[in-house]
Order: sequence, then C-alpha cells, then structure tokens
Amino acid sequence: GTTLGASAAEKGRYFGAAVAAGKLGDSTYVGILNREFTSITAENEMKMDATEPNQGQFTFGNGDRIVNHALGRGMKVRGHTLTWHQQQPGWMQRMEGSALRQAMLNHVTRVASYYRGKIHSWDVVNEAFADGNSGARRDSNLQRTGNDWIEAAFRAARAADPGAKLCYNDYNTDGVNAKSTGIYTMVRDFKARGVPIDCVGFQSHLTNSAPGDYQANLQRFADLGVDVQITELDISGSNQANAYAAVTRACLAVARCTGITVWGIRDSDSWRTGQNPLLFDNSGNKKAAYTSVLNAL
Ligand code: XIL
Repeated sequence: GTTLGASAAEKGRYFGAAVAAGKLGDSTYVGILNREFTSITAENEMKMDATEPNQGQFTFGNGDRIVNHALGRGMKVRGHTLTWHQQQPGWMQRMEGSALRQAMLNHVTRVASYYRGKIHSWDVVNEAFADGNSGARRDSNLQRTGNDWIEAAFRAARAADPGAKLCYNDYNTDGVNAKSTGIYTMVRDFKARGVPIDCVGFQSHLTNSAPGDYQANLQRFADLGVDVQITELDISGSNQANAYAAVTRACLAVARCTGITVWGIRDSDSWRTGQNPLLFDNSGNKKAAYTSVLNAL
C-alpha cells in the first residue's frame, strides 16, 4: 500500500490517529487524516470532563464532530475514555464513596449508550495501575470506592454497548514489568471470572526505543484471550525511525494485535511539546519515521 491505513489493512489491521475536534477545519491536518488513517481516537473530546461537565448534563457536540468525521469516511472510532483519575469534571473530583461509584457507573452507562453501535473499541478504564514496583492499583478517588470499581465499569459498559470491544488502557506497560504484570494478573482474573474484557491498550509513549520484550509482552496478554492494541504511540529521540519500525513489526508479529494508533498527526499537534514524536513534521511532510513505519507494514 501507499498509505499507512491501506498498508495496515493489507495485514488486517487498522492504523489510527488521535484527533482534536478544533483542528477539523485545518485543511493540511484533515488532508493527512483522510489520506493516511483508518481509525480515529478523540484526543480529549470524549473524556469525563468533556462529556459530563455538570453532573447529569451530558455534552457530545465535539465528540460527535469527531465520530461523524470518522464514520462518514468509513473509519473506525476508538472511544477514549469512559473512566480515568485525570480530566474528571470538578464536581466528580469532589465526590467520594458510594455517591462517586454511582456517578461513575451512570457516566459509563450514559456515554456508552449514547455512542452505542458507533465505537469499535472503548477504553473503559484508563491508567488505573500505579507506577513503580508495587504492581498495585493507583490510589485515586475511584479506587477508594472499592477494588471492584474496574469490573463494575466493564459490566456497565458491556450492558450499554454490547457490540463494542472493551479495553483496559495504560502507559509504562510496554515491557514485562511490575505494572504490566499487575494488569496481566487482573485480566487473567477477569477472564477466569467472566468479567467482560476484550482488549488491552498499550499507550506506548516512548523515548528512543521500545523495550526489548515489547513483542513478548503483547503476546502474553494475547495468550490470555484478549486483543491487544497500540493506542497512543509517539516516540521521541534520535532513534525514532528505528523504534517506530520495531513497534510496527511487533504488532504485526502478534496475531491478536489488531491495530496501531499514533497520538497526533504533525509534531506540532503533539501533547509532548518540543519533542517532535510523531510521523509528520510541522508542515505536514512525511518524516523518516513515516517511511520506516510504511516499510515495516
Ligand atoms: C492528553 C492529550 O493529548 C492532551 O491534549 C491533554 O491536555 C492531556 O491528555 N494518556 C492518555 C491521553 O490516556 O488521554 C493523554 O492525552 C495522554 C496520556
């Protein structure tokens, strides 16, 4: 193929990008998006603060702009994210206990129901595990409602949109380490007990290289019976092009790695300001990293 999306499709995968609704009027940006990508993730527009700014009042305008752009062009949509300890609306940040649990479940139900039938994969829970060597859950207001909050969120999401694949998504989980093993143990337990989980997202915000056991780590999750997806890929540093190729090859080598999403289009669109971690330069020209991915696909 001559584009990321077409080449990935030849291998049965999607190739996606994170998109900001406010840039859908930028013709350079949209030109690359429509030419190269077969899946879209809303960079911020479907997060809890964006979709429920006041308790019980839901706003889907910007999310809809992104979803309609994608579905109108035959692209998939990754839903991001139904729950997270960050980018919660202020009212939710101030809640705790059973009231927070109920508000969280209501949010999952309302947002997943609104988009029912339109979402390929939902990040049901984002970044719920701690960094470092504990392998434990991250402390958060949601975690303090009880350790079963994650499975409750997955059950609510399944009931609201039975057709969407339901993912757990996190960062610093790209190799075999204490954090990824904590998640691995949770997924194994969910599969054993019938908690509805279909996929694990690996954000893959990387510097210079992927861990040497990147592919092996994807494979051990796939062997649990879930799909794996690279969900927020960006790579800074001088070895960028090689590292992008290595990540692409690792996904293709794992049968259940169903797609790759880069976290933005041009370097100037990246949340990693000044690090130039993406596949297109500020003018929208293809970088060496782009060619490296295309050749690896
Ligand atoms: C980032 C967005 O790119 C920024 O625009 C926003 O200010 C903060 O969030 N992990 C995630 C994403 O799951 O939602 C984050 O996106 C990047 C880290």
